[in-house]
Amino acid sequence: MKKIELRPYNLQDPLEAQEIVNIAHEYYQKSPWPPTLEKVMKGGVVYFRAFYEGKQIGISGYSLKTPTLAETVKTTVFKEFRGQKLGALLSQAIEDECKRIGIKKVISTVYYFNHMMVQIKLKQGYTIEGYHPDHEAPGYHEYSLGKILK
Ligand SMILES: CC(C)(COP(=O)(O)OP(=O)(O)OC[C@H]1O[C@@H](n2cnc3c(N)ncnc32)[C@H](O)[C@@H]1OP(=O)(O)O)[C@@H](O)C(=O)NCCC(=O)NCCS
Repeated sequence: MKKIELRPYNLQDPLEAQEIVNIAHEYYQKSPWPPTLEKVMKGGVVYFRAFYEGKQIGISGYSLKTPTLAETVKTTVFKEFRGQKLGALLSQAIEDECKRIGIKKVISTVYYFNHMMVQIKLKQGYTIEGYHPDHEAPGYHEYSLGKILK
């Protein structure tokens, strides 16, 4: 069975934090507010490198909203590794990590045009809990998806 390993970034290290910024700028070009180095280093989000068969295939992260509620963010598979179900595995891996630390509910906000991630989350038992028109900025509509962890 395919297995993803998550290894935490050290955000105190500007080079590691810069790597996240670079990945976000490359893969979230449609985002109106890509993260800055200052923001990433400030913390608030726990980021991971994701490995599959010894190679880094992407990143993911979460932020704690409450001690039992986490929002997963930046679940990203690098272009050369897409279409092999690694996105689904990575989504599951970050959820498992949240569960491991005692989280009872995970949420994720996804742009309305990101059908792949919506599909992945729905298949994994998330439900659409909200639709937010003009959310991050005018024209940037988002779904919020949530799953209660049993
Ligand atoms: C979203 C992303 C992680 C998917 O990675 P991936 O490894 O190619 O995804 P997978 O192979 O696991 O699965 C993709 C799923 O989307 C489905 N899909 C593909 N194109 C689709 C479309 N146009 N509409 C709906 N579903 C689609 C696939 O059929 C597959 O679902 P299935 O398992 O039910 O067949 C990747 O495209 C990515 O990193 N995108 C940029 C970052 C991003 O947007 N992240 C999400 C932030 S919320």
